[in-house]
Amino acid sequence: MFKDKNFNYAVFGNPIDHSKSPAIHNFFSNQTGVFHTYGSINVPLNKFSSIILDFFKHNGKGANITAPFKQEAYCISHELTERAKIAQSVNTLKKTDKGYILGDNTDGIGLLSDLIRLDFIKKKYSVLILGAGGAARGILFPLLSFGCSIFIMNRTLSNTKKLIKQFNRYGKINIFNKDILKYKIFDLIINATSQSLEEENSIIDLSLISSNTCIYDMNYKKNKKSFLNTFVHVKSTKFSNGIGMLVFQAAHSFELWHNVFPETDKIINILKAE
Ligand SMILES: NC(=O)c1ccc[n+]([C@@H]2O[C@H](COP(=O)([O-])OP(=O)(O)OC[C@H]3O[C@@H](n4cnc5c(N)ncnc54)[C@H](OP(=O)(O)O)[C@@H]3O)[C@@H](O)[C@H]2O)c1
Repeated sequence: MFKDKNFNYAVFGNPIDHSKSPAIHNFFSNQTGVFHTYGSINVPLNKFSSIILDFFKHNGKGANITAPFKQEAYCISHELTERAKIAQSVNTLKKTDKGYILGDNTDGIGLLSDLIRLDFIKKKYSVLILGAGGAARGILFPLLSFGCSIFIMNRTLSNTKKLIKQFNRYGKINIFNKDILKYKIFDLIINATSQSLEEENSIIDLSLISSNTCIYDMNYKKNKKSFLNTFVHVKSTKFSNGIGMLVFQAAHSFELWHNVFPETDKIINILKAE
């Protein structure tokens, strides 16, 4: 499949049509002068491992992996970075000089980089995370290592419990319950659910938000009824969508492949303005 393709880097997912990764990586390539060609591949649901291995057998030097293949990417990696091992999820692959496939996870460091840029995070912050899926798993270790204490609120309690069992050795992490509100005001709330943004139902109670609470929605698709528009404008003055995280996770992938960390502000502003 990849014998005649002329790109060495690509994003793999399903669906992939609206991915911004090719635009971001082309921007990084022009800006740093590091030449790389970057494509996008829509992968049939049961074909991930054969397609990715074929890519690395032919032209492939590096890949970004998006939903729903991050766990499978973790399984096919020959070597793993520490943060990918802990997250048990891989969003970046690199072919090493020895021909092995190295798996990394840059989602967590991407989020942390954006939170720092926005001045949304301080050590010892109390953070509420909505969701307990793959995205939540990718961000927990960097946030716990930074010194935050974390509460998780998720639709399915058993998934929350699994996550807490996996990460409680790395710091303070607990299940959210309403009693917490009697003594706790959250400094930061992160939406890491894939809740359809069209839905009317609130996943967050307004009593959780004060004017000092920073709100970060990892989703970044435009929608009038987004988490931000519906809830945040009401009370909090500090809010952001996930475009910055998307750019920073790409920048950390770019650095893994090319040993150069690209400039990020310009492309964040371009994508935010779109
Ligand atoms: N900005 C970025 O760079 C970036 C990077 C990664 C991911 N993301 C975004 O993060 C979101 C989550 O991705 P993911 O990979 O974690 O997906 P996932 O593994 O499928 O997990 C989905 C999560 O959302 C919850 N959920 C789904 N529908 C819901 C609903 N109607 N009401 C309440 N909760 C609901 C699920 O709860 P249950 O456990 O109950 O099923 C689960 O916790 C996606 O929108 C993705 O685009 C952004």
